[in-house]
This record gives sequence, C-alpha cells and structure tokens, in this order.
Amino acid sequence: MLTLGIETSCDETSVAVVREGSEILSNVILSQSDHSKFGGVVPEIAGRAHLRKIVGVYRQALREAGVKLENIDLIAATMGPGLIGPLLVGLTFAKGLAFASSIPFIAVHHIEGHIAANLLEHHDLQSHHLTLIVSGGHTMLVEVNGFGAYHILGATRDDAAGEAFDKVAKLLGLGYPGGAKLDHLASTGNPKFIRFPRPMLKEPGYQFSYSGLKTAVALYLKKLSPYEVQQQLADIAASFQEAAVMVLVEKTVRAAQELHLSDVTISGGVAANSRLQTVLAERLTAIGCRLFYPSLPLCTDNGAMIAAAGYFRFQNEGASELAVSAVPYLKLGV
Ligand code: KG4
Ligand code: ZN
Repeated sequence: MLTLGIETSCDETSVAVVREGSEILSNVILSQSDHSKFGGVVPEIAGRAHLRKIVGVYRQALREAGVKLENIDLIAATMGPGLIGPLLVGLTFAKGLAFASSIPFIAVHHIEGHIAANLLEHHDLQSHHLTLIVSGGHTMLVEVNGFGAYHILGATRDDAAGEAFDKVAKLLGLGYPGGAKLDHLASTGNPKFIRFPRPMLKEPGYQFSYSGLKTAVALYLKKLSPYEVQQQLADIAASFQEAAVMVLVEKTVRAAQELHLSDVTISGGVAANSRLQTVLAERLTAIGCRLFYPSLPLCTDNGAMIAAAGYFRFQNEGASELAVSAVPYLKLGV
C-alpha cells in the first residue's frame, strides 16, 4: 500500500511517498528561507509560499518514488496543529487530489506524525513506550499505549524547547531558525561556563517552562559589551543548551522509571540536538532503557512522517471525510 504524505503546517512544504508505513520511496522537503529576515515565521508569507511550491514538490515526490498518482492508495495530509493558512494549502491540495482521483483521504495530527517518525525507522520499538516531543511549537512527554492511544504526562506552560533555542540563537546573532546553528556552536563551548536556571527541574510532575531560561540568557547578555559577547559566544550557547537539555533529560528519565517503560523515543526538530541525543542515551542506557530517535531529515517537519501516521490511522479507523477542515490548535488524542 502506497501512501502520499503532505505536510504544510509551518514553513516546510513537504510531500513523500511511503510503502506500508515503513519504507520511504521519496521525501521531498522544501524549507522556506523567506522568514529569516523577519526573525520568525510570518504566517501570510508561509501560506503564499506553500501555494507557490506545493505542486512542484508533489510532482518531484512522485518522480523520485518512480510512481504515478494512480499507483497511490491513500492520501494523508496534516490537519493541525499549525498555522491556518499553511495548513489549508496542504489539506485542500490533498483533498482535491483525493476527490479528483477517488483515492481515500486521511487527515493527520501533526504531533502524531512526529511520533510516527520513529515507527517508520525503528521496527523493534515496543508499541507501549514513552515519547518526548520537542519541536518549535511543542514540548510534551507522552505515554504511548499503542498507536493512537496517548496519555499526555506533561507539557510546557509557556515557550516550547525549540522556540527557546530559536530565541536564544537570535539573541546570539545566529539568525532564524537557529536551533541547529546553536547546537553546532555549542559543541566548541564550555557547558559549565555559566549556570543558567533549569526551570521546573525539581518540581514533581512533567511540566516544562522555557520562557525564564530565555530571559536569563537575555539578562546575562545585557551586562556584556559586544566584544565580550563575541568572546563568550560558544560558551553562552553551550551553557544555555546544557540548561535546556538537562531539564528534558531529567524529566524523561524520571518518567521512564516511574512508568516502568523500557523504550523511549524523542521526536520533533529538537530531537536532532546532539547534546540531547548523547546525554539522554547515556542516562537511559544506565537504567536499562533504550533510546530511539529519527534520522536527521525525519526529526524536523516532513511528509514521510505524515504518510506513516496516516497509514497507521487508516488501518485503525478507515478514511476521513472530505469535509474535514484545518484546526490550528488541534489537541492530541481527541
Ligand atoms: O518539528 P519542527 O521542524 O517544527 C515544528 O513542528 O515546530 O521543529 C523545528 C524546531 C526549531 O525550533 C529548530 O530550531 C529546532 O527544531 N531544531 C533544533 C535543532 N535542529 C532543529 N534545536 C536544537 N538543536 C538542533 N540540532
Ligand atoms: Zn513539527
């Protein structure tokens, strides 16, 4: 069974073809660069860019997979959460294709897509596992009781982890989106140079908060001259990253222990963070758990994860109505 997956919830236009929810035949990802000069995603610009690019990305995905539309058995598209304009472009395109070609259509939750990114690549992952979702818009710990059955343990009260990386990267002059650049810069810095606060680390439960950490970095930078900032740039990046990552690591390890879950996954853009991958793997291995994370192109937004999630959801409950609409604040598990 071939699934076409379409993702346009934010600033990546992506279309993929996936066989049986596990074999990627193509995964074309076009990241919009139009937003960097604004320091964040401009929804109106993103929507228009998706509209300009979607047909070309779709054709390339079919070409790279070596298939035609008539070979596709299911069309999956992100319905939310995300930016309304961008969501509508991908969703409407998918529904149009499905209607015109009488192919079943399935609407997909973006976060379920991130969760499914691990299912695509790690076939020995236990269906009952713990997942840490860390992206530009979300930070949450979820107990996965099989595909589609989610128990949200905790989430961020304010900024998402990726948002904090992007805001601090901006403060350090690394541009937008700066998470990956900050990760790279931090690898040459001293993570113990400044002890930035580790928000909510000691509090029980699995809530997160990232706005205070970003403010702490901003206040620290204010006290420095431009020369000092340049001198300390890598050390500040490493110290911020250490604080941001340690909170994620401690809470994830605690959840794995408290819920007696031996398999743990991370997903979303921040799952690509090298320090998070290294420290979390060390800590989980030490307590007999296994850590899984997607390969780099599957960490950030992509059509293959939407195709995989669509495939599994279709197995469970069949196709969606074509009347389904985009929902910017769609909750997980409802
Ligand atoms: O999952 P994603 O593509 O989009 C959302 O659904 O939000 O995640 C994008 C986020 C951005 O905030 C980006 O800066 C962050 O993931 N990111 C990283 C790294 N690579 C991407 N953050 C930290 N370290 C990285 N290596
Ligand atoms: Zn995402």
